Amino acid sequence: MAELGSDIEKAANFLRLGEVIGIPTETVYGLAGNALDPDAILKIYEVKNRPSFDPLIAHVDSIEKVIDFVDAFSSKAEALAHSFWPGPLTLLFNKKNQIPDLLTSGLPRVAFRVPNHTQTLNLLRLVDFPLAAPSANPFGYVSPVSAGHVNDQLGEKIPYILDGGECAIGIESTIVGFEKDEAIVYRLGGISLEDIQSAVGKVTVKLNQSSNPVAPGMLKSHYSPKRKLVLSDNLAASIDENPEAGIISFMEDYGEKHQFILSKTGDMNEAARNLFKALRHMDEMPISKAFVELVPEKGLGKAINDRLRRATA
Ligand code: TXA
Ligand code: MG
Repeated sequence: MAELGSDIEKAANFLRLGEVIGIPTETVYGLAGNALDPDAILKIYEVKNRPSFDPLIAHVDSIEKVIDFVDAFSSKAEALAHSFWPGPLTLLFNKKNQIPDLLTSGLPRVAFRVPNHTQTLNLLRLVDFPLAAPSANPFGYVSPVSAGHVNDQLGEKIPYILDGGECAIGIESTIVGFEKDEAIVYRLGGISLEDIQSAVGKVTVKLNQSSNPVAPGMLKSHYSPKRKLVLSDNLAASIDENPEAGIISFMEDYGEKHQFILSKTGDMNEAARNLFKALRHMDEMPISKAFVELVPEKGLGKAINDRLRRATA
């Protein structure tokens, strides 16, 4: 098992040596390595068992640090970065040569994000390279929102996990790129569509539905928990027919033994924070399947539902 701790000097040293470690962010935990070192990037792909056609996000502690690695910011990119960094937003830029092709899977664009987590921002200030960090889960599985989740799944393969508590947002960053100056959302995430629109006006949403993403986004069957997860538009009826099943509800309490309520008060941010915990919880229950309902499509609800559709695909 990996060592868990809050020693950022120690974390920085592992990274300088080319190791990969677990790091906290406000969205989900990341599996981090030196984004400029192809060997460290390869290690990340290996530890995650991730296909190399799925590119990684580079993390830095300030907008200024992105500038060296990319072509100029467009005015929309600047508006988004200033509005939401540090925070759960990833921006795609045309990359310069210093960014290894391995990081972007050969694509011309590179993904950057400034995460909003004090320990990780301090760690990023200590090292003199960006950190490549996909979510710290085995490929295709649910993202980790605590250091313990990372240790459970990848602890055998990495030396250290920086423990920064539970993730405050709980779902991954929103990914935005630009096509002919039009803002395109490739992944729904921790910044709502409404908030993106209020910063840059109309945006187009192009979520990846394919199982072979040439470009961005996510595979269709992502977030697959071990338990069979089934979408239900009537949880009461589903549980009547399958009394042994588990349920994940948005806010209603069905009084079932194997249930997880995302937010009793209908708070969408709380629901997002609880989503991956709920999926993991179902995996630990002695059930053969679990029913889950979609949440209202407002705010982070769209991002939650996108993940639920993929998890039940
Ligand atoms: O919140 C997050 O974004 C977390 C934390 C750790 O920062 N990271 C994360 O990374 O979710 P990952 O690797 O699980 O998902 C990154 C997504 C991938 O689906 C990938 O296809 C897309 O970002 N991506 C990365 N670089 C890209 C690029 N150059 N062009 C298009 N899509 C890219
Ligand atoms: Mg991921």
